[in-house]
Amino acid sequence: MRSNTDRSARTAFDAVADAYEAARPRFPAEQVARVLRWAGVEPGQRVLEVGAGTGQLTRALLGAGHPVLAVEPGRQMAGRLRTLDGTGALRVEQAHLGEVDLRGEAFPVVVAANSFHWLDPAVEHPVVAEALEPGGRLLLLWTFLLSRDDAVATLAADPVVGPELGFLDVRPDAEEHLERTARDGRAELDAAGLFRVDAWQFDRRTETRDATGLVALVRSFANVAALPPERRAALEQRVADVLADGSQRDVSLDVLTCAVLASGAADLSAG
Ligand SMILES: C[S@@+](CC[C@H](N)C(=O)[O-])C[C@H]1O[C@@H](n2cnc3c(N)ncnc32)[C@H](O)[C@@H]1O
Repeated sequence: MRSNTDRSARTAFDAVADAYEAARPRFPAEQVARVLRWAGVEPGQRVLEVGAGTGQLTRALLGAGHPVLAVEPGRQMAGRLRTLDGTGALRVEQAHLGEVDLRGEAFPVVVAANSFHWLDPAVEHPVVAEALEPGGRLLLLWTFLLSRDDAVATLAADPVVGPELGFLDVRPDAEEHLERTARDGRAELDAAGLFRVDAWQFDRRTETRDATGLVALVRSFANVAALPPERRAALEQRVADVLADGSQRDVSLDVLTCAVLASGAADLSAG
């Protein structure tokens, strides 16, 4: 995914931390174990996680035995992250990456799940590059939500809700758009000269949400989270009303994960 040029909504998630926690997909432990193996990450290696949210990936990293330094600017979100720590393996820095002093620290693994595109490339990509130890791995994950469910199609066709639903792709050619988005992002990363993309892969699974879960999911989208509270509430009511007109069943979502593995600048200069 390309870097966002408008980063004004990057701190909006914290206002909807409850909805984010309730409705955003978490990375299943088996999927994370598979991706870490694919990326060549060794058991127990220390991980710098950028933009950890409420721990959608952090839980699985800790569960797999990795000590984690999680950087997360949101106060609510950082607070939730701290509750995940049962063993002292997690350190949480409540800050934007560019504000954290990482001098003297080098990580064999840096991960960012659904967050790398929110970083300021001019300031924070160099921070990531410097945080990677020689031979270190940068693992970027993005979750894309697609749905062919009738209830979601009805939401997408609604003149009020539809324009805000961009994060939940209902287009028949959604996969092609996703592949193009992923390809453009990889090209941008390569072109900037700080990182080299080594490999990428996609993974697909299905999840369901009931009507309440779907309202919470919409609330967790950056564009919706950034709305003034009264407009957000009106939009959520509209989502609930549209869904109430249909059947009260679970709605099916396709969760596509794109994993991108890259190396840092030290490796570029070496080779
Ligand atoms: C879409 S959420 C992703 C959360 C979680 N990792 C996930 O996969 O669902 C993006 C996260 O990046 C955080 N973020 C935004 N700008 C950041 C920055 N400059 N440095 C670190 N984190 C940042 C936001 O607070 C938010 O929690």
